[in-house]
Formats: sequence, C-alpha cells, structure tokens
Amino acid sequence: SSTFASAAVVEHSFQVKNLTIGRLCRQQTITAVNESLPGPTIRVQEGDTLIVHVSNESPYNVTIHWHGIFQIRSIWADGPNMITQCPIRPGNSYTYKFRIINQEGTLWWHAHISMLRATVHGAFIIRPKSGHKYPFPKPDKEVPIVLGEWWNDDIMDVANRGEITGVGPRISDAFTINGMPGDLYPCSENQTYKLKVEKGKTYLLRIINAALNNQLFFKIANHNFTVVAVDAGYTDPYVTDVVVIAPGQTTDVLLKADQPVGSYYMAARAYAAPPPTIVAFDNTTTRGIVVYDGASTANPIMPALPAYNDTPTAYTFYSNITGLSGGPQWVPCPRRVDERMFVTVGLGLEQCPANATCQGPFSQRLSASMNNHSFQAPTSLSILQAYFFNVGGVYEPNFPNQPPVEFDYTNTNVSNDMSLLFPPKTTSVKMLKFNSTVEMVLQNTALIAVESHPMHLHGYDFYVLAQGFGNYNASRDSKNFNLVNPQRRNTIAVPIGGWAVIRFRANNPGVWFMHCHFDVHLPWGLATTFIVENGPTPSTMLPPPPADLPRC
Ligand code: C2O
Repeated sequence: SSTFASAAVVEHSFQVKNLTIGRLCRQQTITAVNESLPGPTIRVQEGDTLIVHVSNESPYNVTIHWHGIFQIRSIWADGPNMITQCPIRPGNSYTYKFRIINQEGTLWWHAHISMLRATVHGAFIIRPKSGHKYPFPKPDKEVPIVLGEWWNDDIMDVANRGEITGVGPRISDAFTINGMPGDLYPCSENQTYKLKVEKGKTYLLRIINAALNNQLFFKIANHNFTVVAVDAGYTDPYVTDVVVIAPGQTTDVLLKADQPVGSYYMAARAYAAPPPTIVAFDNTTTRGIVVYDGASTANPIMPALPAYNDTPTAYTFYSNITGLSGGPQWVPCPRRVDERMFVTVGLGLEQCPANATCQGPFSQRLSASMNNHSFQAPTSLSILQAYFFNVGGVYEPNFPNQPPVEFDYTNTNVSNDMSLLFPPKTTSVKMLKFNSTVEMVLQNTALIAVESHPMHLHGYDFYVLAQGFGNYNASRDSKNFNLVNPQRRNTIAVPIGGWAVIRFRANNPGVWFMHCHFDVHLPWGLATTFIVENGPTPSTMLPPPPADLPRC
C-alpha cells in the first residue's frame, strides 16, 4: 500500500540464535539471524527510517553493524563492539534505529564482535527514493550475490585456536555463494546456487564479499559484467570479465544474458598474493550455475579464474574504477586539505606469554598496527560512551599523523632491529574538528609479510585519489591524484606492498572505527578510531543514547 509520503519506516526483528545446518557432509551448529544463512536481506529506499529489533538468544555476546551506512545523527546504532556500544548479552535485546540519508546502492550488515560475522550477515539494499532513477538502464531483475566463507568447526573454536597459536585462526574449509559451497566440495551438489536467467534480459547483481579473511575473484563463464557501483557509490560503467572484491566491499554489476541458451558456472576463489608459506589461505573454489530458460543444468561451461596471486588483474580492476561524477548522490571531492596523515598498516609481533608456545615468526605471537600503535579495544566502557559522558581513562587522544620516527617501516631486514617488530598496545584515537578535510596515505609495511589490507572506515565514504606499489612518494605521486571523478568507497584494498591515498570531509560527528576488514587482523590491532567533534548547530551534535543501549 502506498502513502502520500515517500519516506517510510521499515521494521525488522532479528532473532540471533543457534541453528544446526548441514554443510560439507556434516551437521554444524552456527549462530544465525532468523534461522537463515545468509541472514535476511534489508530492503529500503533512500530517506527511509529502519528499525531493527535484535534479540540475542544465542550463547554469545552480539552486536550488529550496518556496514557503510553513514549513521548521521544515529551513532549509537553503528554497532562495533566496545567502540560505539557494549555488546548485547545473551538473553538481552537492543533496537537499532536510523535513517538512510544521501546514499543508495548495495551495502550489508554483519555482527561486529569476535568472528561471529562468519554466519551473522546479510545484504542491505538501498533503492533510490520514489520518482528517482538508477543512472543506468533499469535492469529486468536484481539479485544479491553474497560471497562467504565456511568453517567445519564452531567459529568460536576457530577463533580461540588463533588465540592459542598466536598465528591466527585456521583457514576456512569452503567459500560460498549465497550460503552454498557449490559442487566442487564434498556432499555439496545439492547446495549449488542457481541463477535462472532469460535470454536477452539484464540482471543487476549486487555482489557482497562477506568472507572473513580473503579477497575474491568472481567470474561467470563467457559473460562480461558492467560495473555500475562499488560500496554504494555509482561508478562510470566499467566493462570487465572479472570482479575483484575485498572483505567489506560491494560491487554492483549489470549482467546481460546475451550468450547462447545454456548453462554457465559462476565461480569465486581467493586473491591472496602474499607467499602462502607465511600467510596460509583457503585455496578452494566455490561455484554456482547461471541457467538460461530452456537449458539443462548439465555440464555448464566453467570460467578460467585468475591465479590466486594474480596481482596485475586485481590492480587493474581496483584502479580502473572511477566515480560517476555528477550522478545521483555525488558530492565533489574537497580540494582543500586540513589534516594530512601518513599511516602505516601492517603486521608485527607481540611477546609470547611466558607459559605459552607461540607459532608466529621468532616464536612470538602475530600482532598488527597502524602507525606502530596496536589498537586494543577498551573493556570497561565503549569509546563513544566514554567520549559522550566524559569518562577518563578509556582511550588516549594521541593517535599520530605519522609513524614515530624510530619506526623504520622500510626496513625489511627486520632481524637487524627486532625493536621495530613489537608495536605497543594502545587505545589511541585521533580527534578531528568538525568539517575538517582529512587526507590519508595508507602505506603497507613489509616487516613481517606483505599483504593487501582492506581498510574500512565507519561513518563515511572516502575518495580514492591514487594508489600504487612500493613506498609512497609525495612529490611524484600527488601529481597523479584524481580529484575529478575518484571512486568513492568505504573499504579500500591497499595494493600489496603498496599504498593508497584517500580523502574525506569529517562532516559527520561521532566515534568512527577504522580497521582492516580481514577479521584475523582485527584482534591483532590493525585499527584506530576517529572522534569527529560536534559542529556548531543542533543538527551537527551527537544525540544522547537510546534508553535500551546495552549496559557495560
Ligand atoms: Cu564491516 Cu567495522 O566493519
């Protein structure tokens, strides 16, 4: 039923509880929302208000994050554990309420505590408000494609094993498409996702990488994609036969069913360029089938996926995308810069406890840092509560704009200077003035291993001005900044052994987490937090918390 007002209130109930399902020849108990994997798809229009009643009937502490949602004047609904809220304890509930303002496209939601997001996640689709159109031909059908990762163990055991060994959790046993591993895995023939298409029609695939620790290549045999959006930001149309997508990112593509009537595999596997001897990864392939009307599903054609370490293909995809300048929801990139930050991101070590055996390099535990600060979440109170209610001793406003001088991130012969390898554990935040413009160089370090870290910022989209390999060189590389139609993202995969430059205007007051979206790197400390101060008007000030905010 339609009403005179275009903005609506959309309401959901999320029951978080245990669910036993069969995968890979065995029954496994997982934590899931409303007994489904992936969980329910949220569908809203820009301008709507969303209300989600979360009741935690699971044995674990839970929070839910709405990945990529700006949360303008609704910071208390953002969800990262101990950053904006304390967890919803078993038997308790919390209602997340927020308006979707100035954004449209594909996002997703996920648990933001421990490794629960492995099975607690779902798509979040924002359509243009009534009377507004997509900046591309209207597709005949829209289909969420949620790529995931599956473990044959209780996810808490997987996480704990990481804690014990000091080298991180065991690698996954399968990748999945919409919760299904596909027919290359044992006992999974009947769990192969099928997309029925009609010849001549166009499909909008809303692809989400909900995997925990792997970037993915995604292809459909004999078909091209036209990328039209990334991270809920419209792009110039970009034609490609392969999509590369990092954990946290989304990619919207148009798929035209323009091939002979038949059946074609869609398939995904890891893009994991670091040496597998140092960073192990799941080297298996998930696949589903695109079936044309009138075709049988027998003997589909298989696409040739890039090799796991095909960095040129990944870089070509990531760096060729440009924002749809002037399109719907486009905001020009700010030209003036107030805060210049140079931030190293990478792995380090933590001293192995005396009574433990650690399997990391030099028999230590792995750790990680930004600007040599290894982020430790507070335990007594969330950072947002401490900030809002002025409680001292929870965090330090001392996150630096550059790495400490003694931190020589270019020294790859680390055994010469072991002191470089042990970043101190801190709860450092960076304070930002309302409306200041921040430019940040994200520089991967190679002290322990080179990786391509998917860095995610809460509360904002940022512009990606440039990226490259090796060490960033300001006078050389700033000449190549794209300030006209840069891609806008909330998650950037910093090129392996390289750098990326991002920019955003801090016009959204609040406490915003920034972290690597490889779940394995988060407890190691590859994170920091921005506190953006209130603006001058009531509409630019933080609201008080809702009455049902979980107690710490
Ligand atoms: Cu999708 Cu802080 O995360």
